[in-house]
Amino acid sequence: MSNTIQRSWFDQYMVPCFSPAQFIPVRAKGSRVWDQEGKEYVDFAGGIAVNSLGHANDELKKVLTSQIESMWHVGNGYTNEPVLKLAKILVENTFADKVFFCNSGGEANEAALKIARKYALDKYGSHKNEIISFENSFHGRTLFTVTVGGQPKYSQDFAPLPQQISHLPYNDIDAIKAHISENTCAVIVEPIIGEGGVIPADPAFLKALRELCDQHQALLIFDEIQTGVGRTGYFYAYEETGVEPDILTSAKGLGGGFPIGAMLVKQPIAEVFQPGSHGTTFGGNPLAAAVANQVVALVNQPEFLAGVQERHHEFIKRMADLNQRYHVFSELRGKGLLLGAELEKKYQGKAKTLSNIAAEEGLIALIAGPNVLRFAPALNIEEQDINDGFARLENALKRFVQE
Ligand SMILES: Cc1ncc(COP(=O)(O)O)c(C=O)c1O
Repeated sequence: MSNTIQRSWFDQYMVPCFSPAQFIPVRAKGSRVWDQEGKEYVDFAGGIAVNSLGHANDELKKVLTSQIESMWHVGNGYTNEPVLKLAKILVENTFADKVFFCNSGGEANEAALKIARKYALDKYGSHKNEIISFENSFHGRTLFTVTVGGQPKYSQDFAPLPQQISHLPYNDIDAIKAHISENTCAVIVEPIIGEGGVIPADPAFLKALRELCDQHQALLIFDEIQTGVGRTGYFYAYEETGVEPDILTSAKGLGGGFPIGAMLVKQPIAEVFQPGSHGTTFGGNPLAAAVANQVVALVNQPEFLAGVQERHHEFIKRMADLNQRYHVFSELRGKGLLLGAELEKKYQGKAKTLSNIAAEEGLIALIAGPNVLRFAPALNIEEQDINDGFARLENALKRFVQE
């Protein structure tokens, strides 16, 4: 029946701000996806670092259907049991004292940037409003977050833009040392730049950001929308760095495929948002919170996180083996199961071509900019899926180097 629905309807009826693949996925389980024609794909993309436990995970299905039976939505005039439980678990397992829930990463960052501005205003005065972010970073698609993001192509057509936002080179301690001042209210950073090319931060850079923020009474915001909830082999990536942020944003993998976002924050900052300061209709929805509770319960276990690290080594080894034969990549990088493979100079700009060929061969992969092939598979991806995925990637690489 689904065959009566056509891919051409996208072009006919939908705002063309995406360019989806020509096939339409209709069913998925674990790390396998099937399209309308019944063709099977191995999924190394995980819905862009979202399906942390794979597709249609049985335990997530169980809590979601149980919550569907009891209550879907009550609005923020009331709280609900799943969201209270989720807030408690996130506070007990992180640096944070308080949590604000929303529906997406962009909204979580919007909340973080707003609370940082209000905290600085209330505590220090209106001069302290500058936000520092980094070139190539990505923080979402709201007007504030595209402006804060370090990729001008996402903001340049939407002027006038929010003001007092500076972009500095990533991993450059001297640049921020020279720039940060008493007017800076917050520094926002991805511990690994995701969309902008899978570029891990130097530990010394993050440590310097913490020290500089403390010296200048600025808040340090970690955007862990892509790196959070087990993605790097830690519950949140900051744990490995030894640097604690003041605010952390989470989304993507937190819901395992059900939309939810969260801003985690220390108590003195949380206090500046009083009833009416900020809000959302759907944030903290019981369905999303019920699923996220189960995601956290399954992911935040030492054995599970150790499994992510094991899979990291497996992926890197197999990528390196393939590269010995095909010489397509100049660098393999990333942490846990957020991995990037930079194309050799002679293949610059061809990451999308490679991912398209991979899809033809039955492998769903991501790109991170024009020169990086990116993998963000389910954190529990199974051996057979890894075997089949790499066999298909090899077929794709054979064609890629010939074409
Ligand atoms: C680091 C980072 N921040 C923010 C976002 C925006 O999240 P969303 O698309 O859920 O609004 C993304 C999405 O790719 C991201 O990777």
